[in-house]
This record gives sequence, C-alpha cells and structure tokens, in this order.
Amino acid sequence: MSTNQLDKKSEAWSALFSEPMSELVKRYTASVFFDKRLWLADITGSLAHAEMLAAQHIIAASDLADIQRGMAQIRSEIEAGTFEWKLDLEDVHLNIEARLTQLVGDAGKRLHTGRSRNDQVATDVRLWLRDEIDLISDLLKELQVALVDVAEQNVEVILPGFTHLQVAQPVSFAHHLLAYVEMFSRDAERMADVRRRTNRLPLGSAALAGTTYPLDRERVAKTLGMEGVCQNSLDGVSDRDFAIEFTAAASLCMVHISRFSEELILWMSQNFGFVKIADRFTTGSSIMPQKKNPDVPELARGKTGRVVGHLMGLITLMKGQPLAYNKDNQEDKEPLFDTVDTLKDTLRIFCEMVGGQPNPATGAKEGGITVNAAAMEAAANKGYATATDLADYLVKKGLPFRDAHETVAHAVKAATSHNCDLSELPLTVLQGFNASIEKDVYECLSLRGSLNARNTLGGTAPAQVKAQIARHRARFA
Ligand code: ARG
Repeated sequence: MSTNQLDKKSEAWSALFSEPMSELVKRYTASVFFDKRLWLADITGSLAHAEMLAAQHIIAASDLADIQRGMAQIRSEIEAGTFEWKLDLEDVHLNIEARLTQLVGDAGKRLHTGRSRNDQVATDVRLWLRDEIDLISDLLKELQVALVDVAEQNVEVILPGFTHLQVAQPVSFAHHLLAYVEMFSRDAERMADVRRRTNRLPLGSAALAGTTYPLDRERVAKTLGMEGVCQNSLDGVSDRDFAIEFTAAASLCMVHISRFSEELILWMSQNFGFVKIADRFTTGSSIMPQKKNPDVPELARGKTGRVVGHLMGLITLMKGQPLAYNKDNQEDKEPLFDTVDTLKDTLRIFCEMVGGQPNPATGAKEGGITVNAAAMEAAANKGYATATDLADYLVKKGLPFRDAHETVAHAVKAATSHNCDLSELPLTVLQGFNASIEKDVYECLSLRGSLNARNTLGGTAPAQVKAQIARHRARFA
C-alpha cells in the first residue's frame, strides 16, 4: 500500500477494491480505539526491525535515521496527547506507519519491508505483556512482604482454624496469613514461567511463511531483550497461547485473592469481629447509618469472575482457528488488557489494605489490617478446638487412636451439657472417661499448648511459624 493509499483508506483499501468499506464494517473491524495502548511496544519493535534492516543493508542508513527521527516525533506527539488516531486507519500499526510516512516520506514506506502486521502485532502484544508481567511480579512480591510483616506481629495470636467452616483446631494467625504467602509465591512462579514463553520474537515470520529478505531475527530479539525467536513462522504469527497462559495464571491469582477476600469479609462481620480494615476501603449504606461495608474485598471477589471469564473467552477464541493468522486474534486484546488492569489494580489495593501506607514523616507503614487478638482467642475457646489434643494425649498414654477418639467424643458431650470447655472440666470428671488422665492434661487442653505441640515442618507451632517467616525474608532479600 502506498502512502497515498494509506491516507485514503476511507476510500478503498487498494487498487484491487472496487468500493470502500461501509462505515459499519469499518467500525466493526477497527481496533485502534483499544490497541492504541500498544503504541510504545509498536514503536520499540519497529525501531529494532529498522536497525536490523539497515545493518543487513536492506534499507539505507539514511532511511534508518529518518525512521528514528520520525518515531521520536510520533512518540512525543502520543505522549503529549496531540497524535491524531484515525478510525480509518484501522489499528495502532497503520496509524503509526501512516504518520511516519507523512513525517519522513519514503523511509517510512520502507519500514514494512520483510514484515507483516501479523508478526508485528504478535510481537507488540508479547513485548507489552512481558513488561506488564514484570509489574505484576513486583506487586506480588510487595503483597507477600506485607503479609509477612503482619504475620510477624501475630505469631502468638491464636484463632480457630476451620474445616467446613466449623471450629477445628487452634492456629496461629501468622500461620494463617502465611498460607496466602505460599499461594502468592506460586502465583509469582507461574508469572515468571509465563514470562519466559511470552518473551520470544515472532517478528521475521512475516505474514505466515517467513520472508525473502536476509533478516537477522536473532539480532532483533537481542535488541528487544527477548529470550529467543519463534522457530516456526506459522506458529509465531498465529498462536496466542502465551496470552491464555497468562490469563490462566492471573485467574489463579485472582482466585487466591478472592479466597482471602472471603475471609476478610467474614472476619470483619459482627459475628466474628477478628479484624478491621481501614475506613478508606469500606463504604457506608445509604439507609443503615451503622454500616461499614467491605466493598473492596467484595469487589475483588466479584472481579475474579470477570478475569476467569476472560480466560474462557481467550481459550475459546483460539480453539477453532486454522493456521496461520486469522482476524479472530484481534479479539485477544480487550480481555487481555482488562485482565492486566484488573489484576494490577487488585494487587495494588491489597498491598495497601494489608500493609498500610508509609507515613510521610516517619516512613513507617500505617493503616493496614487491625487485628483483634482477644476476639480471635475467644472464638478459638469455643467449639472444643483442642479435642484432637486430648485424643493425642490418650494415645500417648497407650490408647489406640480410634478408642481415644471415642473417649474424647464422650468428654465433649459432657462439656457441652455443662456448657463449658474441655479445659474447664474438673480432673476427676476427665478421669471418669479414662483413668490414665493426669493433671498435665490441662497443658494440652490449652490453646497455647495445642499450638506448641504442632511443631513439625509446616505446622502451626510458633517455632515453625518463625522459621517460615525467616525463610520468606531470605527469599525476598
Ligand atoms: N489489528 C490486527 C490484530 O490485532 C493486526 C493484524 C492485522 N493483520 C491482518 N492480516 N489483517 O490482529
């Protein structure tokens, strides 16, 4: 397509076409209003391509200089908000190329040598996503650090651990938070892994079959900081599996945030009263003056559905496509962009909601989660959370576990009918269930005794939790 034809796309695509696109089709097929956010990746990719074309003597050094000058101007126009994006020019690639040609003439028309929009767009999306993955990885680390900070202050704080949302066994609040650190650290690993496969270069695949020019693809990959080139041109222009993988990793991360949100929502309710989050993350009710609603965790839980939906969209987008490029792939962008935006905003907000904000005067973080240790402990004292400890105590006295289990069931029944905790039953009553019970039973019936007893790797004993905190700190260093 010549410059003139690029400019006159409102008329007909090329000499081959007898009539212009209808306005509706133009709107239907254009992507510029969403893919313009790829502009920096597009310019970066074009500059790397042009440098290589000049180094390979495919274009002249003076053409390269013109292209660089033109791109610098386009960059400043876009940054200043003065660049005129045209629907007629369909997408980010044609908009930038047309403006380049307007600015520098023939050199602009030479930029597309040995290249197609098919390998160009695949390169742009990969470059853009790679940089976004880096930002997301930083946020994931920040969130883990915030959780470990709160954990460190709450190693000795005990809350009921639940199974089936029924009180099960006492656990350290720090241990509970560190479970999320594990989840987010796996999310970070997944992001790093996706990054490796995203960071490969399609450019040089041209439309689908490679190109007749003596391109140096490895050089372009190196200039762009990519880890290698796509080794098959048909695959390079057409697969979007990296975007699907990313969205799958993002979905899992949102699922972890959603689980945490659900817990925050429960813990903040009057029935639990375990934690408070800063007022700026809550909203009031228009009718009930007493309300402070946990809107942020609720929205994060809700937005998880949206990201999982994007995963379904992208994977379905891919499934019926024959090789190589199809226009279907233009539909990859909005779900991918929205996934990145949603995940980044959610992570940012959680970093601040958990860890607080630095006080400008002292630099110390303030306004993160507030923990009500007394409420947690009181809840752990209800529901016979140390019943398993009594069974284990009897096993150590020689009872087979199944018998011990049954004996403790009787003890729990008795405590229930007296409306008291197991630890409040007199020794004589306990001895009625099994004669081997001695005074030291009260140590194991206490919340702290129960916690200290679970001193195996991965367990909730404070000694283990402290070791985990140290391991995480070393990981972050
Ligand atoms: N806007 C297009 C996309 O996002 C660029 C590639 C167009 N290629 C083509 N052969 N029509 O996929």
